[in-house]
Amino acid sequence: MAVTRYENFDLSGKNTFRMKVSCACYIEYDDAADLKTIDFASLPQPVMHIGAGSNLLFTKDFPGTVLHSGIKYIKYVDLGLEELLVAVGAGVIFDDFVAETCAHGLWGAENLSLIPGEVGAAAVQNIGAYGVEAKDIISGVVCYDTQTGEKVTFKKEQCGYGYRDSMFKQAGNKGRYIITSVLFRLSRTPKPQFKYGNIQLALGGKTPSSPSEVRDTIIRIRQEKLPDPAEKGSAGSFFKNPVISKEHFEKIKAVAAKELGEDYSVPHFPLEDGSVKVPAAWLIEQCGFKGQKLGGAAVYEKQPLVIVNDSGEAAPEEILALERKIQESIKTKYNIDLTPEVEHI
Ligand code: EPU
Repeated sequence: MAVTRYENFDLSGKNTFRMKVSCACYIEYDDAADLKTIDFASLPQPVMHIGAGSNLLFTKDFPGTVLHSGIKYIKYVDLGLEELLVAVGAGVIFDDFVAETCAHGLWGAENLSLIPGEVGAAAVQNIGAYGVEAKDIISGVVCYDTQTGEKVTFKKEQCGYGYRDSMFKQAGNKGRYIITSVLFRLSRTPKPQFKYGNIQLALGGKTPSSPSEVRDTIIRIRQEKLPDPAEKGSAGSFFKNPVISKEHFEKIKAVAAKELGEDYSVPHFPLEDGSVKVPAAWLIEQCGFKGQKLGGAAVYEKQPLVIVNDSGEAAPEEILALERKIQESIKTKYNIDLTPEVEHI
């Protein structure tokens, strides 16, 4: 058990965008029981909890307290022949959990390979990639309730999961519940999910025989398209993929037909309720932003949904200016409001 506290802490190493900002107080702990020893009311306010800082944009110095979990364990509970429950500490690097379970031949997490971030944040954000979301393998979430000082366990159904969303992001709950561990349900029997376009293609159309085979394929695809965090700061996808009505989509198709030809097929995913999800990456590319720079910020040339700290020295304002410019263009051309996926602090 240990709690380490720093005052006026430099956060540039704690956010993958590498924004040079600081917080009044930074606290690192390594055990759920540590949380009971912290007097939350006496800390510089507001108090926020971060994971690997891989989905955050600090827009200025933070006047309050930043907490970070160092709870790191992966425990396996046998549920019989087919399934296992895996309890994972919130501070475990999400991809370490994926790598370990794939190596054990367990199915479920493989499509989420190489997503940056830690396990606790993954359960808040319902991270997703290649047709799988965290909620598909989450069975429950264990929290510390800062209001009551008690441990509370939420079943998956209580977590209110949606696209990059959960009840942990709602105003009243944010800051109240600190995730200490996440329970994942994984399978020994093969359950490959490989229908997502480019996965199927990369696997040459054949059914993968092990989770590691899927993992290796996904790592290859991600490394080709997404910036290496060691080289360029970013927070992954900057915007959410917008969902629009069928009628609205018809208008977008008409614009594309004029510009790209009658035979051009606009990428889209029809949803069950009749609405349509359009890749923000495509919209951004169509507005000519691919590779475009603005000050120290840039739209990543291989995946325009990602904004990068191109110079390595970009100020928050430069990222925000590029964000606004993209939003304005997309609004003007397509009448779509792009909402950021990255949390602005
Ligand atoms: N596209 C373009 N131009 C490009 C790249 C993509 O037009 O340069 C279009 C293509 O039509 C492509 C489509 O966008 O088929 C989708 O692209 P991609 O498969 O790369 O996925 P995405 O929708 O852009 C989402 C997630 C990613 C996740 C990928 C893969 C969101 C906001 N992003 O991106 O998640 O890795 O799918 O499943 O949902 C993240 O959340 O940080 C993240 C990286």
